[in-house]
Amino acid sequence: MSATALRTSFISQGLRRALSSRIAATLAYPHGVDRYVESFAPTYSLSEVRAEVTALRHQTDDSVTMTLRPNGNWQGFRAGQYLRLTVEINGVRRSRCYSPANSVHAADGLIELTVKAHAGGFVSKYLQQNLRVGTIVGLSQAEGAFALPEMRPSRVLLISGGSGITPVMAMLRTLCDEGRYGSYRGQITFLHYSNAAKDQIYAAELTEIAARYPNVQLLRGYVETNQGGELNGRFCRAHLNAVPDYAEAETFLCGPPGMMKAVQKLWADEGLAERLHLEHFAAAPAVIDTANAEGEVRFARSERLARNSGGTLLDQAEAAGLKPESGCRMGICHACTCRKTSGRVRDTRTGEISDAGEGDIQICISVPVGTVTLDI
Ligand SMILES: Cc1cc2nc3c(=O)[nH]c(=O)nc-3n(C[C@H](O)[C@H](O)[C@H](O)COP(=O)(O)OP(=O)(O)OC[C@H]3O[C@@H](n4cnc5c(N)ncnc54)[C@H](O)[C@@H]3O)c2cc1C
Ligand code: FES
Repeated sequence: MSATALRTSFISQGLRRALSSRIAATLAYPHGVDRYVESFAPTYSLSEVRAEVTALRHQTDDSVTMTLRPNGNWQGFRAGQYLRLTVEINGVRRSRCYSPANSVHAADGLIELTVKAHAGGFVSKYLQQNLRVGTIVGLSQAEGAFALPEMRPSRVLLISGGSGITPVMAMLRTLCDEGRYGSYRGQITFLHYSNAAKDQIYAAELTEIAARYPNVQLLRGYVETNQGGELNGRFCRAHLNAVPDYAEAETFLCGPPGMMKAVQKLWADEGLAERLHLEHFAAAPAVIDTANAEGEVRFARSERLARNSGGTLLDQAEAAGLKPESGCRMGICHACTCRKTSGRVRDTRTGEISDAGEGDIQICISVPVGTVTLDI
């Protein structure tokens, strides 16, 4: 256990109760108790989930796998769910969604995240290049409906591509743990796609799992030729010849948009859509019309005003120097939800235009149609 974690663990339940008291809150006003305690126990917080990076490894050239020790506020997750990780970059807190890849039964209580650095990506690149053991990050509780059901399916098909492996890796590891303890006896097929063998995250562990567990079938496909692997190239109908009972499986899918579209189409064509569960890591590019943008955006609480640039209200708020909460930036996590007090907005995913009255909106996928006032 690191020195930081040891110090944190010394904060007993009794002290915790004292720190949550009204007297402590009054003494710590206006900064709050957390601000004082974090100087000697950085992961301590009365209510927020914070975590210390305890280990880092680079499985591929463009990824980082981090082990996190969360504080006592972490409530755990269901295999497949994601959390929002917040990290301070140049004095600004940035949040992004990441899916724990560890088994939910990990006895050490640690969380494992693997992040692929995107060429133009702000946070993923920062994490891959700058994260250090001992760094403290903020976490949300686990969120999302993409998860293994409590009643485990007897036939499971996991399909992933690239960094989309993380949530299904959590499912695979969880089911393997349950198999070891005798509570899961189902069949699992894992189809994983990467560009080349050198880009494959969790390569060695997947091979080891397939060799160790007779109920796990591993099928790997590589876009580049001569990489080995059981499948040739990208996902196609022919790959399912190796999984003749795929129609009976609950299928969990996460990967790049092209691959997900191909699998979704096939499942829909065969009337299997209800058995397909999926997680998108990235959204289709939003249709933004900057040329015809009219009106202004009024940020009422912070008393700021900006000309409507036509971009999403999240981008416009950030451009105005505000720091609204955000996570996925694509309409999944609801972290950016805030009150619109007047004006109409367009949903960039559906094109639907709201009414002009009060209502809660997700500002990451809303663009103003004329003047809009937000309670930010
Ligand atoms: C529910 C959920 C779970 C996720 N889990 C993981 C995970 O376990 N591991 C992981 O590495 N990522 C995961 N992601 C993606 C992650 O949240 C970020 O989107 C990603 O790390 C890029 O962030 P960024 O700040 O570097 O990119 P940004 O600076 O936000 O974007 C920069 C550019 O990269 C593009 N881009 C962003 N994300 C992707 C993507 N996934 N694929 C292709 N292009 C992209 C954007 O369109 C943009 O052009 C998850 C996303 C969601 C919604
Ligand atoms: S940031 Fe996730 S829904 Fe808007």
